[in-house]
Amino acid sequence: MDHPAGPIDDIRAKGAVSVTLGTWQVMVAVLGTDVVAVEDRCTHQDTPLCGGRIRNGRVACPRHGAMFDLRTGKSFAPIAPRPLTVFPARIDGETVIVTLPD
Ligand code: FES
Repeated sequence: MDHPAGPIDDIRAKGAVSVTLGTWQVMVAVLGTDVVAVEDRCTHQDTPLCGGRIRNGRVACPRHGAMFDLRTGKSFAPIAPRPLTVFPARIDGETVIVTLPD
């Protein structure tokens, strides 16, 4: 199901935002001209990822620094071996749309 996640201009200005969509907490981030969406929950200790440094398409968990690929969810940290849940995201006009499981 599609959910509006906010104006692309706002998200682009901040780099990333955390939004509640349905029953999910989702981090939406801008990577160049793309927009990506992942569950905003580190797989190490379930803490938010939003606010972590984003570089080269990866986010660093603010708590212990685990790195995750924002396009694939892949983890690069032994302390957080499970990948992030990734959601399809797109820009529709001025709005970012995230597709969540039904
Ligand atoms: S909670 Fe994210 S690396 Fe520990």
